[in-house]
Amino acid sequence: MKKKMISTFLAFSMVTALLAGCGSSGSATTATTAANGASTTAAQADTTAAGAESTKADSDSGKTLTIGFSQVGAESDWRTANTESMKSTFSAENGYNLIFDDAQQKQENQITAIRNFIQQEVDYIVLAPVTETGWDTVLQEAKDAGIPVIIVDRMVNVSDDSLYTAWVGSDFELEGQKAAEWLNSFATAKGIDPSSLNIVDIQGTIGASAQIGRTKGLQDAVDKYGWNLLEATTGEFTQAKGQEVMESMLKSYDNINVVYCENDNEAFGAIDALEAAGKTVGSDIANGQVMVMSFDSTKAGLTDVLSQKITLNTECNPLHGPRVEDIIKALEAGQTVDKKKYVDESIFAVDDTVKSVTVDGNSYDVTVVTQDVIDQRAY
Ligand code: AHR
Repeated sequence: MKKKMISTFLAFSMVTALLAGCGSSGSATTATTAANGASTTAAQADTTAAGAESTKADSDSGKTLTIGFSQVGAESDWRTANTESMKSTFSAENGYNLIFDDAQQKQENQITAIRNFIQQEVDYIVLAPVTETGWDTVLQEAKDAGIPVIIVDRMVNVSDDSLYTAWVGSDFELEGQKAAEWLNSFATAKGIDPSSLNIVDIQGTIGASAQIGRTKGLQDAVDKYGWNLLEATTGEFTQAKGQEVMESMLKSYDNINVVYCENDNEAFGAIDALEAAGKTVGSDIANGQVMVMSFDSTKAGLTDVLSQKITLNTECNPLHGPRVEDIIKALEAGQTVDKKKYVDESIFAVDDTVKSVTVDGNSYDVTVVTQDVIDQRAY
């Protein structure tokens, strides 16, 4: 009953605001939370920072779990696939009330969403954090309320790891290392002198794990192999910003021969800018082509590999819905879950010049992109 009243109050508050014009595994943990015993929440809301849409879904059965999910935004094709994975997993048909909040890439929106979830007494909070830092206070509030928090995709950097129950996502530094080792092997195979590689890095959102790891993977290789890193500037993981940053870099440098884009959408924007400037994108650096490297390996990204516009695409898998559900089911059953869990990811290239890369003694195969490979992609 209390939850119903709070939900009704929140829905009323959101409408009022609108009308007013307002805008591999580490240690383990065991479920010890208010999550056990299910929920009787009566509200299912799908909100965006631009407004709020609240859909009432009954759930007085005592079996429906209410999940508050704070999503980063809708900045990329990857993010769209990730949202779809979460929504289709935590659907009403599957026995969930999903309260979805799109933070529009703003941490303050995520903090507000988490506080709303706490007020609504959700059973679980799932957070895809925009950046790593700045979460201690609000996650302490969730802990004090007895609500388990599951972090997904990017990581949080908190002083006390007990502020979240579990994390599942990508090893972003490994992604960067794979891409950099591939570039080194490719350049070696083609007889390209390391000092003639003139690289620009279109970074992701500064402070996001995906940016930190991918930038570090490149920077470490620059130091190790003696490549030239001309500039590193954020493209905020969007196509529009990727294009804008590439246009600006082309005005500053006339010798760029490798563009390291930290996601597919930035690569799409960069390719548009390069082609508009009369450049030919491709892997033949020795003959004046500009090599574009990317991350995510969405269908659209791999389609650009097939057409030879992107030379290397290192996978970042967004299909986290079932992975988060596995964690929640284990917690509901009182089982121990991994504190941190990394997803296995592949590497996709335009050709088989480099068949595998080795990072920290582990070998990773490189898949040559064909139409079949693209057709089999789920996202
Ligand atoms: O955190 C994952 C990254 O975020 C993906 O690489 C990118 O496309 C998304 O915006």
